[in-house]
Amino acid sequence: MNISTIMPPESEVCVSKIFEASGTKFESETAIDLWQKIIQHKWILSEKLRRDVGFKTACIDFLENMGADEERVVHNREELLAQMGARTISRDLWETISDTQPPKKLIQKRIILPLVEEGLSRKHGVTPPKAIIFFGPPGTGKTHFVKAMAGRLAWWFVEIAPSMLMADGVDKIGAHLRQVMEKARDLDQVVIFIDEFEELAGSRDMANRVDRSITNEFLKQVPLLKSQPNKLLLVCATNYIRQLDAALLRPGRFDCIIPVGALDSEGRRTILEYYLAKLNTGVVDLDRIVDLTARFTPADVEYLFQKVAQHAFEKEYQNKDNFSVTTEVISQAITSIRPSLTDEMIEEHKEDISTYSRI
Ligand SMILES: Nc1ncnc2c1ncn2[C@@H]1O[C@H](COP(=O)(O)OP(=O)(O)OP(=O)(O)O)[C@@H](O)[C@H]1O
Ligand SMILES: [Mg+2]
Repeated sequence: MNISTIMPPESEVCVSKIFEASGTKFESETAIDLWQKIIQHKWILSEKLRRDVGFKTACIDFLENMGADEERVVHNREELLAQMGARTISRDLWETISDTQPPKKLIQKRIILPLVEEGLSRKHGVTPPKAIIFFGPPGTGKTHFVKAMAGRLAWWFVEIAPSMLMADGVDKIGAHLRQVMEKARDLDQVVIFIDEFEELAGSRDMANRVDRSITNEFLKQVPLLKSQPNKLLLVCATNYIRQLDAALLRPGRFDCIIPVGALDSEGRRTILEYYLAKLNTGVVDLDRIVDLTARFTPADVEYLFQKVAQHAFEKEYQNKDNFSVTTEVISQAITSIRPSLTDEMIEEHKEDISTYSRI
């Protein structure tokens, strides 16, 4: 990409001066990075002065305050991260998800790689995603995937819970949402997660006045966030994609709308292996357990193993003798759990995939 195509000519002169001042050679690639910092600086300065400052002013101010301003930005970011309860997630979480568990491959291809391989994305004109939606039945792993993505990218994980925004009553939700999103926009290398998204962005046709204003606020916030040069990824999750406002689902707002659904046998196998590894096991016929857990969500599998673990613990405590978990013990526990997914839910999810998914 040529730097002159993205930067006004008077700013290009200023950017060259910045390079001169820092003793670095002016190169297109690094100039683009610097330009992104200047755009961010323009935003910070405009916020500070409460007016939209021009690019030239932003460049001059950047040049004058080089170093000091960056330090301040880093300091502010650290404070904001702490305020927003940012967490780091281990990269291992991503590795524990089976490659066959949808939508892992898709996420890897459409989200992770374009964000990690910045140079290649730029070369081929691929715009890395900034805002995506996950939808699917409860317990299918939406939250798990978002955390795993943050771990894989080695970015911060920040969750905005709709309940947090409701702390001062429904009338204040819109104002809180605006404040939180303003702070979020200033962060860098962060995955911002909003669960139960339908509570904030429900269809305006069916909403009352307050709900409608929250959805309107959201409609304003998404493009603002997407226009930031910082490394941000907004992920919203919902069990009820049908309840979201149509305007949010249109192309241009969210980059991808991704279904997270039922596990196939390979996906179940990896999750079963993951939880089995935590138990004191004897002989376990994994194929049989895979067959017996059709229609189980990851949440069901987790619950199954909690039950099995508790059972094994109690048995050994009572009998004072080593208790090993076997196929029989697990199959017995399976009979006491009703799988969360029904044929009807799977059918509905398939319909939702054809109506709403955009990948
Ligand atoms: N691939 C996986 N391996 C191991 N555990 C998993 C996997 N996917 C999900 N889980 C576990 O299953 C449980 C349910 O997953 P999660 O909370 O991500 O589902 P969800 O779709 O967000 O549910 P909800 O719609 O209720 O918010 C979690 O405890 C999570 O740790
Ligand atoms: Mg969840």
